[in-house]
Parts: sequence; structure tokens; C-alpha cells
Amino acid sequence: MNISSSQVESIVRKILGETSPAKSASSAKIPATAKVAMLTAPKKIEVKEFPIPTVGDNDILVKVEGCGVCGTDVHEWKGDPFGIIPVTLGHEGTGEIVALGKNIKADTAGNPIKVGDKIVTSVISCGECFVCRNKPANTNLCDKQGVFGLIPHSDANPLTGWFASHLLISGKGSTYFVVNDLDLKERMLLELACVCVHALKRANTTGLINFNSKVLVQGLGPVGLVMISVLRAAGVNHIVAIDGTPKRLEMAKKLGAKTVISFKEVTSLEERVNIVKKAANGVGVDFAFQCTGAPMAAKDIYEYIRRGGGMCEMGFFVNNGEYTVNPHFAMCNKEINIVGSWDYSADDYPTTMAFLRQAREMNIPIKELITHTFPLDQLNEAMEVNVSQQGIKICYVAE
Ligand SMILES: NC(=O)c1ccc[n+]([C@@H]2O[C@H](COP(=O)([O-])OP(=O)(O)OC[C@H]3O[C@@H](n4cnc5c(N)ncnc54)[C@H](O)[C@@H]3O)[C@@H](O)[C@H]2O)c1
Ligand SMILES: [Zn+2]
Ligand SMILES: [Zn+2]
Repeated sequence: MNISSSQVESIVRKILGETSPAKSASSAKIPATAKVAMLTAPKKIEVKEFPIPTVGDNDILVKVEGCGVCGTDVHEWKGDPFGIIPVTLGHEGTGEIVALGKNIKADTAGNPIKVGDKIVTSVISCGECFVCRNKPANTNLCDKQGVFGLIPHSDANPLTGWFASHLLISGKGSTYFVVNDLDLKERMLLELACVCVHALKRANTTGLINFNSKVLVQGLGPVGLVMISVLRAAGVNHIVAIDGTPKRLEMAKKLGAKTVISFKEVTSLEERVNIVKKAANGVGVDFAFQCTGAPMAAKDIYEYIRRGGGMCEMGFFVNNGEYTVNPHFAMCNKEINIVGSWDYSADDYPTTMAFLRQAREMNIPIKELITHTFPLDQLNEAMEVNVSQQGIKICYVAE
């Protein structure tokens, strides 16, 4: 029996349950359905299957390869503080383009884009608020900033989060970047790294960070550890790191911190301040990054900073409460330069890609931060591991 290649393709399609390719620039085969790991109730992620919507002329369909689990995901998983259930989470994702709308010729940076490219998404700005209209370089401060992975479920497009087999990039204001030269681990760390690259940009407005600066990183979760890596790549070699977890302190050393302090071992603030001063010209650090999310730590940090030094508060993406300091001693008399850092803008993405290339060149072992990976049907376990702080960076990796 003679069978033509198109007949073979059609038989294979039937067996695999695939539809014909989307009306787009794609030549890739697209399955009829996609799986999403949907948060349907607090602490309940269920894998569900939906038909893949038609890929429109301005849309991009991505086959997901992996996605970091962010503290924000865990926060939402615990108790739905954002009120967006049902939702498919995951905003630190990456994958391969399998279908491309015909109007899409370039990524957000203007680089050519095609089916088969590796891609990441960045923020979705509203385009209408004061910041979007008047301060386009600061769209991280957009009043209605969105991100794929925090969009409530809709049947019209069920593929809006990276904890899925596929993501459909669709809608006004989406930003995305081609990242073919980065490997999967680097791409899964990109969004997190962008938070730290943005924080460095904010810190640099004080002029206090240079090759010889003594810099403190307080809190060594994924944010603090990547902050150390970003500082190293930027030429800062005198880093003091504080945390309470031995594994995280060890990792900080591996990444290049010169002095590490366990606040669980050195329990007196005065003693910790003495150690920091000893490592920092006897007076305290030039600059400090607050990465804990703990009000107590945020209060202590002023003590470690020299007069005329600076501090970047980046540790409270969520509301964890207040602290009290004496502004005379903590800020005014010391003339502290304080900056806050919130998220990132799309224009921080190319800089972050450059950071990841630099980290690779300098052999900064940033990829070792990924300690655990989970498939789509084990994301409740992934959240549990994150909460228990057994690992450092937890990721979903597609099978
Ligand atoms: N600014 C932003 O755009 C942005 C973005 C993402 C996350 N964040 C914030 O960054 C914070 C850190 O995120 P993460 O994912 O690394 O969290 P994480 O919980 O994994 O890490 C926090 C670390 O702080 C340490 N810590 C707690 N109390 C401390 C103390 N007194 N002294 C020193 N260390 C202490 C903990 O041991 C832990 O290792 C979060 O609170 C999050 O809200 C900010
Ligand atoms: Zn995140
Ligand atoms: Zn806006």
C-alpha cells in the first residue's frame, strides 16, 4: 500500500489528537488542548485541560519549558490575598514559540522573532495611567500593571499563566523578549534577576556603589542571593551577607560574599554590628540591600550602615507589617540615602540578559540556586517545599 507523506501526517495527527496548525506564521504542530495547573481554592492546584484558542494575528503561542515558583505565587496559593482564584499562576516562565500571529515581527526590544525562538514575558502596562502616559521608563509603577501568571481565569483565553503546558501571549501592552542564547535555568532565573537588576539601578542613583564599596545584603532567599550575584557581576567584591539558614549562608559564600553572619548564631544586634563594621572600614557598610520581608530585620539594617551610606528597601513586595525606628539616629543624623525598589520595567529585561551572560562569563554559580524542580501535576508539593525553606529556588519544569 502506498501512503503519501501528507496522509501519514494526517493519520499521526488523528492518533495524537492534534488539530491543523493555527492560521499563523507557524509550521509547528499544535495540540488541540493544553494543560494548566490551576489554583482553584487556597492550597489547591488542579491540572485542567482546555482547548487551545485560535492564535490571532497579534498573538504568540508558547510551549512552556519551565517556570520559577515565586514568593508571590506561594502567597497567593496560601490564601488568595489578591482575590484572583481561579487562576493559573507562574510568571517566571520561559518556553518555545510554536505559533506566531502574522503581525508580530519583532520582540519588545525590536529583535526579530520567529517560531522556534525561546521567549520570556515581562510586564503588561495599562498605557493609560499617569505613569504610563508621562513616565514611560517607569512602567513598573503603572497603577494597573499586570503580568502573565496573575490574571484571573477566563474561558476565552485559559492560557494566561506559565504553570501550564502552553501560554498564549495576547492582548494590549504585553511585553516579551527572545532569549535564545540563555539556557533553561538561566531563563527561569531571568525574572527574579530582573528584580535585583532593577534594585541595583535604584541603588546606583545614590552614587554609593562602586568597585571598592562595602555592601550588605540582608536576607538570603532567592532575592538576596541573586542580589549578591548581580553585585558581583557589577564589580562589587566586598559583600557582607546575613541570614539564619546555614545552606543559604553557604550559598552566599559560593556566590562571592566575603563575610557571612548567621543572625541565629550571633543573636545580639550589637555583636552583628561589630562584625559588619570590622568588615567595612570600621564604620559600617556604604550601602545595604534589605531583602528579608521581616520588619525586625528592616529595623536593624540602619545600624549596619555608615554615616552618609545608603539603603535599598526591596524586601516587602507584600504587606508584612510595620517597624519603628528613631529617625534622628537611623536616618537624619546619619544622612542615609534611602531608595525603594519595586518590581521592574520591560526595559530592565535586556540589562538582565546581559547580567546573566556576565555571570556565566565570571563563573558565578547562579544556576545552583535552583535546588528543586517539579512537573505540572506536583505544584502543590512545589509550594510546600518553598514554604518549608528546604531549598532555595523551586521551579516547575515541563516533562
Ligand atoms: N522589590 C521587589 O520588586 C520584590 C520582588 C520580589 C520579592 N520581593 C520581596 O523580597 C523578599 C525576599 O524574597 P525571597 O523570595 O528571597 O524570600 P525568602 O523568604 O525565601 O527569603 C527571605 C530570607 O530572609 C531571611 N531573614 C528573615 N529574618 C531575617 C533577619 N532578621 N536577618 C536576616 N535575614 C533574615 C530568611 O531566613 C530568608 O532566608 C520577600 O519578602 C518579597 O516580598 C520584592
Ligand atoms: Zn516573581
Ligand atoms: Zn499604567
